[in-house]
Amino acid sequence: MFVTFEGPEGAGKSTVLRAVAAELRTSGLVVLETREPGAGVFGSRVREWLLHSESMSARAELMLFLADRAEHISRIVQPALERGEIVLCDRHADSTVVYQGYARGLNLDFLREANHFATDGLAPTLTVLLDLPAAIGLARAKGGDRLDAEPIEFHERVRAGFLTESRREPERWRVIDATQSAEKVIREVLALIRERM
Ligand code: TMP
Repeated sequence: MFVTFEGPEGAGKSTVLRAVAAELRTSGLVVLETREPGAGVFGSRVREWLLHSESMSARAELMLFLADRAEHISRIVQPALERGEIVLCDRHADSTVVYQGYARGLNLDFLREANHFATDGLAPTLTVLLDLPAAIGLARAKGGDRLDAEPIEFHERVRAGFLTESRREPERWRVIDATQSAEKVIREVLALIRERM
């Protein structure tokens, strides 16, 4: 089962993912916690380049996210799914459609095709959107990377883009109010995953 976590900056994805993984393991399940960009040696190098370089064109940025995704899916995610593990992934293809598409302005249809190429057609079983207003998320986010530093309007387009995407494919997406307490968010996510299992 392949579950992805999406949302604006500061939505608490990493904390929620870690807690959910720990809870699922107590029920005897084998869980892989992973993320994009940044898994494995290749991913960690690409992540550094993407998030901490001076500046780059939107197209170059897109290619790096896609390269990270292609390696991640073929070398890490697909093998874990074949072993029957539950894969919990912090950001995935929807972040490309939303950040490089809705927020940066690249063509959405092209981005969907490019994602399909990078993932070789693998799609998440469930995508959890941790939704909250951009200003609240930015106040919480401590990242300080190249994308965090974009203006508030960029992050507002990100939030609106995720909500629009969640309505395009309502059977795959579930939206959770990330302004609630972490405990409540974690409980809701666990319930969603157990329901899908
Ligand atoms: P993170 O800090 O949540 O791990 O995500 C890294 C940043 O990269 C975040 O600002 C979102 C951005 N991002 C994209 O712009 N496109 C993508 O395809 C992915 C996976 C992340």
